[in-house]
Amino acid sequence: MNPIIQMTGITKRFGPVTANSLCDLSVNEGEIHCLLGENGAGKTTLMNILFGMYRPDSGTIYINGEKCLIRNTGDAFHRGLGMIHQHFMLIPNMTVLQNIILGQETGSFKLNYGESRRRTREITGKYGLDLELDAKVEDISVGMKQRVEIVKTLYRGANVLVLDEPTAVLTPQESNSLMHILLDMKRQGKTIIFITHKLNETMQVADRATILRDGSVTGTVKISETNIRSLAGHMVGREILFELKKEPFRPGKPLLEIERLKLLPNAKGTVSLSVREGEILGIAGVDGNGQMELEEMIMGLRQKLSGVIRLNGHEIGNRSPLSIRRGGIGYIPSDRHHRAILPGLSLSENFLLGFQSEKKYARHGFIRETKLAQDTGKSIETFAVKTSGARQNIADLSGGNQQKLVLGREVSPEYRLILAAQPGRGLDIGAVEYIHTQFLRLRSENKGILLISADLEEIMKMSDRIAVIYKGELMDCKEASRYTIEELGLLMAGKKPRQEDIDYD
Ligand SMILES: Nc1ncnc2c1ncn2[C@@H]1O[C@H](COP(=O)(O)OP(=O)(O)OP(=O)(O)O)[C@@H](O)[C@H]1O
Ligand SMILES: [Mg+2]
Repeated sequence: MNPIIQMTGITKRFGPVTANSLCDLSVNEGEIHCLLGENGAGKTTLMNILFGMYRPDSGTIYINGEKCLIRNTGDAFHRGLGMIHQHFMLIPNMTVLQNIILGQETGSFKLNYGESRRRTREITGKYGLDLELDAKVEDISVGMKQRVEIVKTLYRGANVLVLDEPTAVLTPQESNSLMHILLDMKRQGKTIIFITHKLNETMQVADRATILRDGSVTGTVKISETNIRSLAGHMVGREILFELKKEPFRPGKPLLEIERLKLLPNAKGTVSLSVREGEILGIAGVDGNGQMELEEMIMGLRQKLSGVIRLNGHEIGNRSPLSIRRGGIGYIPSDRHHRAILPGLSLSENFLLGFQSEKKYARHGFIRETKLAQDTGKSIETFAVKTSGARQNIADLSGGNQQKLVLGREVSPEYRLILAAQPGRGLDIGAVEYIHTQFLRLRSENKGILLISADLEEIMKMSDRIAVIYKGELMDCKEASRYTIEELGLLMAGKKPRQEDIDYD
């Protein structure tokens, strides 16, 4: 096997943070090579260097054995490299086809859409990528946007594709089909570098994996010679508990009660459910079936269509977001970039969000800086946020580390109920384990948790009861142990059980 990509001795510093320290990576032609590591380990940075987005402080890159200087993304394309980023880079009001050929219009003459369409179809056919070429990008699903990015990269003739956490935003079904696409691409001779936190995906498709810890490469392993437990240990440097200890289920009074809430304008039915003290209620469903609406209606961020929402016995349906939070509800939003953090501000300023007028941090119109700094520091420590300190700009933290800070803020003692939407998305397994342990601790302290997650494994592992929603309608709700995975899958796809079996509280 010949290495198609070799990176040796790569070091990259951002001020006081060393993102990559003397990293070596060797990727063989035609393999699927995973990059693993905790949040902030340096995976994205290493790939951004390969792709010409950053210049390394030191180190060398060889492509097909030839030493290369990759000064910008244009150089990278030229060498046959393509990268699919964590955040999509498509133009929403253009069609799928226009996005694919953008920047690739050949010659100075009129755009030849016929020819472009033919070439695109050839690619989609070859790799089984399902695309609606004439749909506007803003109207298509997340899964399809990602396929557009893949086809766009292939259209430019990429031989080596880097995918940065592609499954973090996908439903289980979409992730599964992406795994098949990766295997198909490999069969056709493409080389794939795949960053993921989901070790079962690594086990399913990868040939080898390179593990980063704290900016350094700790080793490269053959997947046929390892297992999930050993990979996990290798990544975090300690043993990960795959089974969590859960205390017996003893629910108390209802904290949140939802009655006949209409989530989507054209939904056939509504949603009724309750979350009690000491209970984790999981909401399962394929992304886009009303989860976002549910989350926003509870938090007062979206007008409800009809129905009742009560927190601790009081109707909150028409209250402001601030007053709802003061009613005792912590909130971990699914859209962390827009709702949970203010990029540009420091960690401690972000830690203050939502509490700026509370006694805890405000006195006579001034912020109690020392107290804020202390609490932020404590949270950074308990949640193992990788940062140079509370004054660092939150935008410079890796995605997972931003989420850890939000969690630390929202798991505040004043809240009796936590609304956690996609809390583990993009987090490394150590962080997910930590959050899950925290949720169980809150549960044993008699707090309630409403867990909205597209990750079925997370839902099954954590929930006392599971409610399934489909097209804005409650399909079923009962104790988690009474479901099988198959049944959940069917419900998520809209196949309903008999009415009399539904158990609303
Ligand atoms: N532009 C930047 N400015 C300052 N620091 C940065 C910048 N980009 C990355 N870092 C820091 O470099 C380190 C590595 O970040 P990187 O994004 O490569 O991690 P990662 O392994 O991709 O993590 P995740 O799994 O959370 O995506 C982190 O500590 C991060 O805060
Ligand atoms: Mg990353």
